[in-house]
This record gives sequence, structure tokens and C-alpha cells, in this order.
Amino acid sequence: MGMIETFRSVVELREFERDRAQRRLRKAADVDDLRRIAKRRLPGGVFDYIDGGAEDERSAQSNVDGFAKIEFKPRVLNDVSDVDTSTTLLGKQIPLPLALSPTGFGRIAHSQGELAVARAAQRAGLPYSLSTMGTRSIEEVATVNSGTKWYQVYTWKDRGLVEEMVQRAKACDYEALLLTVDTAVLGRRERDVRRGFTLPPKIGLDTIVDGALHPGWTLDFLRNDPITFANVSSADGGDGSSTAVNLSQYINSQFDQALSWADVDWLQSIWDGPVVLKGIQTVADARLAVEAGCEGIMLSNHGGRQLDDAPSIIELVAPVADAVAGQIDIICDGGVRRGSDIVKAVSLGATACSIGRPYLYALGAAGEAGVDHLLEFFAEGFSRTMQLCGARNVAELTPELVRWK
Ligand code: FNR
Ligand code: LAC
Repeated sequence: MGMIETFRSVVELREFERDRAQRRLRKAADVDDLRRIAKRRLPGGVFDYIDGGAEDERSAQSNVDGFAKIEFKPRVLNDVSDVDTSTTLLGKQIPLPLALSPTGFGRIAHSQGELAVARAAQRAGLPYSLSTMGTRSIEEVATVNSGTKWYQVYTWKDRGLVEEMVQRAKACDYEALLLTVDTAVLGRRERDVRRGFTLPPKIGLDTIVDGALHPGWTLDFLRNDPITFANVSSADGGDGSSTAVNLSQYINSQFDQALSWADVDWLQSIWDGPVVLKGIQTVADARLAVEAGCEGIMLSNHGGRQLDDAPSIIELVAPVADAVAGQIDIICDGGVRRGSDIVKAVSLGATACSIGRPYLYALGAAGEAGVDHLLEFFAEGFSRTMQLCGARNVAELTPELVRWK
């Protein structure tokens, strides 16, 4: 054989991918890769708003680092030829224990924003949560997603506004409400402070330079309708449609710092379905959530965007599960970056996990196809890790399977 033939016999060139988003995704083997691609494509202020956390960002980091402190005690020779990854969350069967957390301002990452994420979630069969601060409306999202949808509630001082949103969510078949309880005031995100970042982003002098460096994003942004808070209809300095706002000034003036357990009762009184408290961070409050009759809690520190030095979320799972498992569904929210992280959280007692930044990185990296890619990555990783651990179904994910290093 000549040299060329020898070369041909061992080298198989990948077929050329014509679609540019798919070409980028081929190189994205994990969430960090998607993050890197998103960082390259998004204007700096937009990326930093998504990626950043409060103050020294220690909680944002420790959410992720917590998972690295756990190792498996894998069982072998268990016949893992047929693994069932499905589970039940808030009374609904889902293909794996994963949900998409609510995030505001989806359209800053991609013009399709929440619609792209909601469509991808439905294709994957996973619950999608729409944020009060979403840039696509309750109704628009319902049009593209007939699967499991949850609506996240922020509490304006004007309760009429909240009640109206809840009625709209009910009319559009959202199945659960997530009441976010960790945002009495906005955490201090110092990356945004340094940039004077507003929402929607202002196209000012500094962003013109940034925009020239990110032409794809800038064209997409300029060609589409202005970004608004699609769910907030109030006129009193409220809908964000005309003026860009400084998020902390806006939230601190509009949200109710007096929010208390009595408001949980009130929300239950105007809603028939499950109520989940998002932002529980102690065993004591998990117990109170059970007493209040909530169907679920999201153990969450808002991805480390609110109180810095709030506890690493995965470290809360076992103590909370020991106190309330079986009485309430427990969702582990924050720092989940791989399917194996879901195996760890469920083994320690979580009912499911949820993700925020990973799907925003994916959306910024490659739009809707990016989110599909990400959700497949999680599903494949969850199933493969179960197989490598010798677990055949979710019931076999028990504390026996893991240990803290
Ligand atoms: C959020 N999060 C959030 N939570 C909420 O209840 N309402 C909201 O509007 C938002 N908005 C929001 C925007 C952005 C850009 C991010 C990154 C996060 C918090 C979110 O629901 C979730 O708790 C965290 O993202 C989970 O942590 P990871 O997965 O990002 O590590
Ligand atoms: C945030 C708000 C919107 O985390 O919840 O930025």
C-alpha cells in the first residue's frame, strides 16, 4: 500500500456540517464548552449578567464545587442493559429527574428567548418554568409548549398584578407555581455594577464597540422587536418597554419586602395546583414549607446571585431529605452541570434537579439547537452514569451509592 492509501485506511474525515450552529455544537462536549462559545458570541455585559453571581461569587462557585466533593460507590455485575431513568415530579411522570429553572430576560441571549427554550424542553419531555421577568408572555409560551409548564411568581407590592398573572397562568394550563422567596431585594452583582448594566441592554457608545465585536448578536438584537417584560402589564414605571432599567432599582422598588408565610397561604388560596417554594436554604424552612402545605421546595440560592456565602446547594440535600423526604418534593437547583450531578443529588434524597445557566449558555451558543444539544447531553449523562453505577432505575439511587470525599 502506498502512503496515501495507508492514511486513508486509518483516517475517516468527519462529514462537513453545513449548518453553522451545528458546527459549533459539534465542538461542545460539555457545559463549559457551551459557556465558552456563548462568551465569545454574546456582548460582554450580557454574558456577565448571565454568568455572574453576587459579590465575591463564592456561592455561585460553591454550588458547582459541591458536586466535586462527592464520589460514587459503584456496584457492578448488575445487568444494566435496560435502565429506566424516568421518575415522578409533582405528580407527573418525566423521562429523567430534571427541570428547567425560570430565568428572566431570555431574549438577551437569543431573539427567540423563552420560546426556544420552551420548545426544546417540550421535545425533551422536561418541565419548563417561565419567569415573571420573562421576555415572552405566558400566552406565547403556552402556544409553543403543550407539555409540563410551571410559572414563577415574583411578588409585586401591587398584589393585583400578581393575581392577574396567576389567573393568566391558570388559563394557559401551567401546572405549578414557583414562588421565589430569596429575592426580597436584588443581590449585588458586581459585574453588572461595574458595567452599569441595564435591562434591556442599552445600545450606547460602549456597546457599539462591543456590538461590532459581536455582529451576530447585534444584528439579531436590532432586527427584532424591542425586548420587554412580556408578563408585567402595569404602567407604573413597570413594563420596561420604553426605558431600560437598572434591575436592582426596579426590583427594590417594585417587589414586596414584607413577603411572609401568610402570603404563601394567600397564593394557595388563588391557585388550585401545586405551589413550590423556590429558594429554601435551611432544614427549618423546609419543615415550615411542609407545614404550609406546599407540594415542593426548590433548594436554591438563585444560582449564587442573591446572598453570597449562602450554602452550597448539594450540601443541603441530605439534611433536608432526612427531615422532610416523602412529605414534599425536593428539587436541587444550582451548580448542576452534568448528568452525573443529577445521579448524586437524587442519591442523596432529591426528587429532581433543575438548571438555569446551562441552558442560557446553550441558547447563547447556538439558539434552540443548542438547548436541544444540552438536554440530550444531560439525558445521556444521567443514563450512562446510572449504568456505570449499577443502578437500573431511579429508586435504586440511594445514599448507599455515594459518599463525601
Ligand atoms: C436566574 N434565576 C431566576 N430565578 C427566579 O426565580 N426568577 C428569575 O427571573 C430568575 N432569573 C435568572 C436569570 C439568570 C440570567 C440566571 C442565571 C438565573 C435563578 C434560576 O432560576 C436558578 O435558580 C439558577 O440559575 C440555578 O443555578 P445554575 O443552574 O445557574 O447554577
Ligand atoms: C436575576 C433575577 C431576574 O437573577 O431573578 O437576575
